[in-house]
Amino acid sequence: MDLKPSKLGTKDYWQDFYKVEIRNFQENPSDTGECWFDDSGAQDQIVRYVADTFAGQDVEVLDLGTGNGRLLFGLRDEDVEGKFLGIDYVATSVELAQQVADAEGYDVEFQQVDFLKSSAWTDRRFDIVLDKGTLDAIALSVSSDDKTGPQLLRN
Ligand SMILES: C[S@@+](CC[C@H](N)C(=O)[O-])C[C@H]1O[C@@H](n2cnc3c(N)ncnc32)[C@H](O)[C@@H]1O
Repeated sequence: MDLKPSKLGTKDYWQDFYKVEIRNFQENPSDTGECWFDDSGAQDQIVRYVADTFAGQDVEVLDLGTGNGRLLFGLRDEDVEGKFLGIDYVATSVELAQQVADAEGYDVEFQQVDFLKSSAWTDRRFDIVLDKGTLDAIALSVSSDDKTGPQLLRN
């Protein structure tokens, strides 16, 4: 079944979205922004699963399309140890996530990377690769380039 393309599948949408979220955060530091699938408790379930499964271990975690970085911060709040990297293809996401990390003292690295177009991140090895809402957003893209993503991820 073909999905109808949506603005959620465009880079411009996310660039503008996190620009607004940065402004909100600067005006009110307790507002760290939208958390995708929060209504269904997705973040809590992911965090609980990882914290329980990897308790007491050092794990390298990659978050694809990290947005405001809150998924990784949630893991830190549950004392998950190890190196965490959040990547996102828009600069405003990385800027927001870094600002929140600095303000709240989280040890998490963020990089601006389009993981469908750059293989730089594949040089590193990760114990856990997370995605919350990112592959959904990509599935809503109209770009034929972006449709190579699922193929790339399969290989
Ligand atoms: C629905 S948001 C989810 C954000 C975050 N994971 C969350 O749960 O709040 C989708 C995110 O994927 C990012 N994204 C989409 N395509 C990407 C790509 N090819 N490479 C890196 N990030 C991408 C967007 O910029 C956006 O931050």
